Amino acid sequence: MIKSIKQMVRNIKKISKGKPTVGAGGSKETYIHIGLEGFDSLFEQGYGIPTGYAVLVEGGPGSGKTIFGLAAIDGMCKQGKKCFYMSFEEPEVRLIEHMKNFKWPVDEYIKKGKLRITRFDALDVSRSVEALLSAAKKELLIDVDPVLFPADFKPDFIVVDSLTSISSAFSGQESRFRIYIEQLFRYLEKNGITTFLIREVSTPTHIGSTYKEEGEAVSFLSDGIIVIYNVIYNKGDRGGAIEILKMRGVNFKKRLVSFKIMDKKGMVVYPKTVLKKGTFTLT
Ligand SMILES: Nc1ncnc2c1ncn2[C@@H]1O[C@H](COP(=O)(O)OP(=O)(O)OP(=O)(O)O)[C@@H](O)[C@H]1O
Ligand SMILES: [Mg+2]
Repeated sequence: MIKSIKQMVRNIKKISKGKPTVGAGGSKETYIHIGLEGFDSLFEQGYGIPTGYAVLVEGGPGSGKTIFGLAAIDGMCKQGKKCFYMSFEEPEVRLIEHMKNFKWPVDEYIKKGKLRITRFDALDVSRSVEALLSAAKKELLIDVDPVLFPADFKPDFIVVDSLTSISSAFSGQESRFRIYIEQLFRYLEKNGITTFLIREVSTPTHIGSTYKEEGEAVSFLSDGIIVIYNVIYNKGDRGGAIEILKMRGVNFKKRLVSFKIMDKKGMVVYPKTVLKKGTFTLT
């Protein structure tokens, strides 16, 4: 444990020597498209996700949050960006398998150093925060590497899957989770890293709202929110729907559209298939 804390401190020292990349803090001059055509066209012309933004990806269980995160990784790797998938849930092999099912060249991305997928234990994060807090005599953690980022890999894009798993490791210590989250967002902003932070929400009424638990801090700090829903149509069939709920300073289409997850294709978003009021229920 002591060793990992020392490593964390070393990492942050190394990182803080480097200048923040262009667009740090969400410069509105530079936009990124995640490379998922139907989704990208939900932005008005000339807009996209501002570089350096921390975006929440919220949705119910099994709604497609992980697949959306992996689709974004594929699209970003294709654009030559360096990507880091931080999994606190599924093991690396399973995520690689998902990508292979969708015919995304994951082995090539990893071999070329474009992609790193790492599974973390959320309890390690909470234990480290606890140790650091007692070492700092309960003061705020200033300039501390928040989640064991690798020192030898500087990503342009990160997916954290999921904040929900991390928060459950802080159960009963909500204030510590809040400190951790603030550190995480500060770190991402300082380093100009665009990030998708996946969060499971139990019911759609909680989406994007400032509700009790960890959500309060998280929704306030995030620059954008993308929501993925499980849908039941009145005729009884199920489907998926996605929308951009919030993206600070960006012009986007405020519409809930359908998507499908298909073998060999991945996630296909239909930007023109808007869900009609009264024909469906969000779950
Ligand atoms: N290869 C595939 N072909 C077709 N559908 C798939 C494929 N892989 C996954 N799916 C579908 O995608 C759905 C969403 O999966 P995903 O793991 O992204 O959800 P999630 O929101 O991350 O779930 P969890 O809450 O468990 O983390 C699955 O329930 C499954 O129906
Ligand atoms: Mg998942």
